[in-house]
Amino acid sequence: MSSPVPPATPDTVDPGRGNGVTESCTIVVFGASGDLTQRMVMPAIFRLARRGLLPPEFRLIGYARTRLTDDEFRALMRQAAVREPREGDEAAWSDFAGRLSYIAAEYDRGDLQGYGELARRLEQHGSGAGAGARRLFYLATPPALFAPIMNHLSDAKLAGTAYQRAAGGWARFVVEKPFGHDLASARSLNAELARNYDENDVYRIDHFLGKEIVQNLFALRFANAIFEPVWNRTYVDHVQITAGETLGVEGRGGYYETAGALRDMVQNHLMQLCALVAIEPPSEWNPRAVRDEKVKVLRAVRTISPGDVGSSAVRGQYGAGFIAGEPVSAYREEEKVAADSYVETYAALRLHIDNMRWAGVPFYLRSGKRLPKRATEIVVEFRPAPHTPFLPGGAGGSGVRPNKLVATISPHEGVVLQVEGKLAGQDMQLRRIDLDYCYTRDRKAAESPSAYEHLLLDALRGDPTFFARADEVEAAWEIVQPVIAKWAAERATDFPNYAAASAGPLAADKLLARDGRRWHSPEE
Ligand code: BG6
Repeated sequence: MSSPVPPATPDTVDPGRGNGVTESCTIVVFGASGDLTQRMVMPAIFRLARRGLLPPEFRLIGYARTRLTDDEFRALMRQAAVREPREGDEAAWSDFAGRLSYIAAEYDRGDLQGYGELARRLEQHGSGAGAGARRLFYLATPPALFAPIMNHLSDAKLAGTAYQRAAGGWARFVVEKPFGHDLASARSLNAELARNYDENDVYRIDHFLGKEIVQNLFALRFANAIFEPVWNRTYVDHVQITAGETLGVEGRGGYYETAGALRDMVQNHLMQLCALVAIEPPSEWNPRAVRDEKVKVLRAVRTISPGDVGSSAVRGQYGAGFIAGEPVSAYREEEKVAADSYVETYAALRLHIDNMRWAGVPFYLRSGKRLPKRATEIVVEFRPAPHTPFLPGGAGGSGVRPNKLVATISPHEGVVLQVEGKLAGQDMQLRRIDLDYCYTRDRKAAESPSAYEHLLLDALRGDPTFFARADEVEAAWEIVQPVIAKWAAERATDFPNYAAASAGPLAADKLLARDGRRWHSPEE
């Protein structure tokens, strides 16, 4: 067994992975009977336990309003975590299940005896208020409950400044998205949390940051001498960041009606990817240095003025269509969606980063539901070679395509550097050569930790590098806020404006066409 991990601060945290958590701790999941817990959180915690990365004395307490006994909770979690049992899952589950218990109680209104019960359970598990107690509170609840729950935990002296940290003890929060509904609400939520909590104890999760290929962007950019010299306005023509999904809103219409693509995907996931592509090299690898750089670059994104929203942003909503020959409904026909909803299921932005590195290089971001292909990717397109003897009509015939670095995040994970090469044969015919690395091929899928596994383990180990800091979240909201305001003030008149399984609204193509460019297609 490795020696105990010393208490980490965001500046000193040991970036090493692979080591699990060795000291006892308890995870408390709020919203424990909900969809997010079942789809993401519980499967990830179970897999961490299975991989031997949680301490032997680990305990998990589920907390939610649904009336369930401990056994009913365990049965529900089993269904969620062991969907397709693999060898060894049964034995692992019976050990894991013994560590689970459940509290059915109110979060905020009425009888708040649940927090007293929680204090008793934590005490029982050795994670009580005493010295060295370690607990992680996971808030998988609607955002309106984040501050109330955190305030009740502080009042109960279970976390926050009221909680006595001693001898390596800690109390941390993982807070799910959406973090705020707009800039003002994100600011007020941050301010509210700061009343009782140290920023270092709040882990705002963005699961894209737990994806292997996203983390690999750091390694690619900052551990290779060949990229840095060309990673700038002199060599990069533009950057495209796409998150395309074939899925619709999948029963989440109620939530989606309050969000839309801009809030659901662009403000968080895509803005994070944009920051990682664009940041300056941090001087050292620690959470403060990395996140400082992200904030800096997000703040350098040029504000889209209300008058520019029309030329820099595109919204869309899917209508009915066919996917793999099967009819699918329009967004407006989805459950819990208004028949005249003007919520966007597609959003595209053109951003400019006003700094020395990126002046004049557009960053195009887009995300949409019900597109023909699931494809999430970052494309860095380089400028064409300044002079080449291989011109259209001359040797090479087809001309020379610009180099691209494509980082694919889904459906598989990999990186491809597209370069021009010679087609084997007598003539000087050019062809594209892919210098390609595919993670998915490299590792057995079963061994790949999910984004949630990565991030949960980071939170347990006290490493916030891949979590969003308060100022970062606000900087990202600042970028989208003018678009949110304009779109709210001027409702779309042409919705639905793209059919399910089509490539998205025509206006998104025009956004690039106006600049003499076009969207990269995943088939390329
Ligand atoms: C979530 C959004 O954050 O990310 C969903 O709320 C979206 O609407 C999902 O489908 C996409 O994540 P992934 O990992 O499946 O690409």
